[in-house]
Amino acid sequence: MNDFTFDPDTPVMRGARRVLCHANDIGEGGKGFVLRHAHEDNPNATLPIFVIASDGELYCYMNMCPHQGTPLELKPDTFLSVDRKLIQCSTHWAMFRKEDGYCVKGPCVGKTLRAFPVMIDDDGMVLFGD
Ligand code: FES
Repeated sequence: MNDFTFDPDTPVMRGARRVLCHANDIGEGGKGFVLRHAHEDNPNATLPIFVIASDGELYCYMNMCPHQGTPLELKPDTFLSVDRKLIQCSTHWAMFRKEDGYCVKGPCVGKTLRAFPVMIDDDGMVLFGD
């Protein structure tokens, strides 16, 4: 039983990595987070990110479309297209590959989502950072 609750104001750390959630908490459409205290030079700045699981791998990207800088999801924790093959932006429907965030369709073709490192710890917790 996993009783971890993500709290952006009180980060839980494992070494230099931040605990986001348990891997089982990432749904079919992904899971979004807003991190605080992620920028050393600006502690009040926030960092919107999301994590998706695909073919046994986890991927983490900034929740910001390279077209106009808007959040990607249509509703909370819904980052994928209906067929779940691509990440989509709900503003002008750009489509991005899950494995590298590369835009393959829409107004920002050729640009990429900003990626961040994530890993799963031995107990299944998802850790953010290098
Ligand atoms: S803001 Fe994402 S496609 Fe335009």
